[in-house]
Order: sequence, then C-alpha cells, then structure tokens
Amino acid sequence: MEASTATKFTGKIIESSDDVTPAVLEAMAQADNPRLREIAASFVRHMHAFAREVRLTEAEYDIGIDFLNRIGKATHDSHNEGILFADAIGFSTLVCLLNNGKAGATETTAALLGPFWRANSPRTENGGSIVRSPTPGPELFVACEIVDAASKPLANVEVDVWQSSPVGLYENQDDTQTDMNLRGKFTTDAGGRFSFRSVKPAGYPVPADGPVGEMLRAQNRHPYRPAHIHFLGFKPGYKTLITQVSVDDAEHLESDVVFGVTRALVGDYRRRDHGELPAVDVRAPWYTLNYRFVMQTGEAVLPKPPIK
Ligand SMILES: [Fe+2]
Repeated sequence: MEASTATKFTGKIIESSDDVTPAVLEAMAQADNPRLREIAASFVRHMHAFAREVRLTEAEYDIGIDFLNRIGKATHDSHNEGILFADAIGFSTLVCLLNNGKAGATETTAALLGPFWRANSPRTENGGSIVRSPTPGPELFVACEIVDAASKPLANVEVDVWQSSPVGLYENQDDTQTDMNLRGKFTTDAGGRFSFRSVKPAGYPVPADGPVGEMLRAQNRHPYRPAHIHFLGFKPGYKTLITQVSVDDAEHLESDVVFGVTRALVGDYRRRDHGELPAVDVRAPWYTLNYRFVMQTGEAVLPKPPIK
C-alpha cells in the first residue's frame, strides 16, 4: 500500500490569533489527496490574510456569510447565481485565461461559458438559418473556420452556437421565441469551415434580482453585457473550445459586467450596404461576421449545461 504523504495532526490549544492559521493548516494537511492539500492550504492562507488585511468586523462577517447563503438559495435548474457571482468578480475570465493560450502566455480564443448554453441544439446544415421563429432584426451571415495550433483546418468539429435576439433575450427567457430559436449545432467541413444565417444579437443585462444584483448596485456598476454570439467546439483529441465573439460596435464593449471581452474576441461584424446579396430574400443593409477559431490538442470534455 502506498504510504500517505499527509502529516499527522497533533493539535494544539489556541492561545492567540497568531495560532489560528497554523492550526488550521496543520489540520487540513491530513488530507491524502495532494492537490486538495495544496488548494485548501492556499485558500485558508488567503482567507485569513484577507480578514487580517481589512480588519474584518463581526458584522461584516455576518453579511458575508448571509451573501454566500443567498447565492446558494438563488441557484436552481434555470439559474446559476454561483456562476454569475464568479463572472461578476472576474474570476471566471481569470480562470479561463490561466488555462488557455499556453496557460496565459499567448492570446486565446477561449472565453467564459456563461449561463445560457443548453445541450441538444438542433442540428443544422452549413449555411442554414438558426432563426426558427419570426425574429425581426438586422440580417447576419456568419462564416467561421476552426484550425489547430499549426493553422491546419479541423474537419468534423461539432459546433454549438447560441445567441440572444435583437432585443437581448435568449429563447429560454422569451415567450415570443420558439424553443431553440437562435441556437444550432453545426459540423465543420473538410476545410474546417461552418456557416449560418441569423440576426444581429443585442446586449442584455445579467439577472440582477439576486445577491449579485445587490452587489452591482452597491458598487454603482451597470448589469449589461455587450452583444455577442456564443460558440462551443467539440472534437475528440482537442480541448473543448468554449468562447463568444462580441459585436465590435456594441454598447458596453469596454465595461462588460462579467469581463468576458478580450481583444481577440472582438468580432468584425461588418455592415454591408451594397454588393451581391447573400440570399434572395435579403435587403440591404445586412451584416457579416467572419472569424477564425484555434483549438488546442487536449481532452475533449463537455461542460455541464448550466440550465436545462
Ligand atoms: Fe450570452
């Protein structure tokens, strides 16, 4: 049997505030799992240092515990307040950037998943439309390619696409849209390409009726995200690509409430007033978006859908 590398906990009576941190670290060092030991010890060191740094009062401690409890209570099948909190303090984007683009060393086309991805989007032919019920708004034609780190096109990538409507609502938030409107699942062709027809998305506020909304108001922050389209690329042998491409002239592009806009993910949503129409039923102006994604080799793991 493999010998445990965890230390034996002996324990000690606490004499002063100086004794607390070492006592907790010693108790937690009994964990057999080395990664758990590392994470728990670092978490405790930082939490204790935080309380010391701000000289946390007992009343403030109570507010913090209540805030955490209410995040849990506000979370259910169609809403995830925990992810929203991580997003609103920049933690989701930080973890994303630390884990992509050679651990943050290079630019990445990865971004946070957000709370609106659903499994089982309708399969759609390349070039097909994801407008599944009448959705007035500027016509948008999207053409993307997916390549590997050596710029070689990647065929047979399954790509989920989801976006808000031109009034800023996802279909699951809006009774006027049919189920799965503005969502689709595509497969890249031999050239690594996929394309579809849609309408230009609009920005939207994140749900602000819970504890995260209270935090935003207390900090005089607006709750808005700039307009964007979400993409999720899946292919065995490659790290699942989770990303979103923002509209370059969108309001709040530089003040996204969840800090999801990185330079690499500002798309060229180009207005077209002239030229050959992309479809017979289109009238000028229309918009186009061309974008190239990079997928890294790695394990193809799908995230858990945040909503059903
Ligand atoms: Fe979104």
